[in-house]
Amino acid sequence: MVTQARAVIVGVSGRMGRALVRVASELPAVRITAAVARAGSASVGRDAGVLAGIEPLGVEVTSDLPAALAVADVAIDFSQPHATRANIAACRAAHTPLLIGTTGFAAELTESELDAAAGDIPLLLAPNTSLGVALLIELVRRAARSLPPEFDVEIIEAHHRTKQDAPSGTALALARAAGEGRGLEAQQALSGACAGGNGPRRQGEIGFAVVRGGDIVGEHTVLFAGSGEELRLSHRAGDRALFARGALTAARWLAGQPAGRYGMGDIVHEDQYLG
Ligand SMILES: NC(=O)c1ccc[n+]([C@@H]2O[C@H](COP(=O)([O-])OP(=O)(O)OC[C@H]3O[C@@H](n4cnc5c(N)ncnc54)[C@H](OP(=O)(O)O)[C@@H]3O)[C@@H](O)[C@H]2O)c1
Repeated sequence: MVTQARAVIVGVSGRMGRALVRVASELPAVRITAAVARAGSASVGRDAGVLAGIEPLGVEVTSDLPAALAVADVAIDFSQPHATRANIAACRAAHTPLLIGTTGFAAELTESELDAAAGDIPLLLAPNTSLGVALLIELVRRAARSLPPEFDVEIIEAHHRTKQDAPSGTALALARAAGEGRGLEAQQALSGACAGGNGPRRQGEIGFAVVRGGDIVGEHTVLFAGSGEELRLSHRAGDRALFARGALTAARWLAGQPAGRYGMGDIVHEDQYLG
């Protein structure tokens, strides 16, 4: 594993981008060497540290992603879904590993496009960069494998009022894990997804319940509801800094990997991160 990775933050003006800069200033594992905002953003030209509310870093925010990639070992993208395709293309051209934390781009990019990119660069898709959620996904896969199909699976998630996508990327990842545990392909698991509706519940459906309000950082519960018993596996995020810590840990790891498609599950399989 590389000891210190040089990282470019894409989407630095956003809430997560600024949290990444703040948390990185306390972690020896990652050094921010470039920071990217949208062309025309009010952040362009500002110091990334000052933008994040800490001391100056000497890193000027730019909208020139290819130039930023020239001074980085890994790119960390927490921007907006419409930017994902261009960010992937720039990282492929620069041969720079890419961690995508942005969510909600699913409709804009096909699996085969993502696989093609992962043929050229290490690509880590992380709809939730919390190490606790990465473990939750593994536990859900395990529970779905063990419990009989009579246990209905419902995914309940809550986020702040400004979140754009629903269900959350994490809720979809939990549904995929539950489906995989039951031997379904990812698409089969999601095609059975429902959001309530009329009539009795069909066996095998994975239901979603979405709550949006206030400043809730992120809560996910996977409910396995059987006859006379329930199992609930839950995670609650209390502070956005936890996503930043997980993303930076994963980015440092990704910088030392060969080209390929990765997820946060690959990080929690490394024992040292759980110790
Ligand atoms: N994976 C996780 O664990 C996790 C956790 C929290 C959030 N998220 C996801 O991460 C994304 C960002 O979340 P957030 O809360 O930080 O949102 P946000 O506050 O809206 O920040 C997104 C920022 O992206 C910038 N942007 C837009 N187009 C860009 C481009 N082409 N290049 C670079 N920057 C661009 C925008 O700023 P400018 O216009 O000033 O550039 C905007 O401030 C969302 O998709 C969210 O769902 C993921």
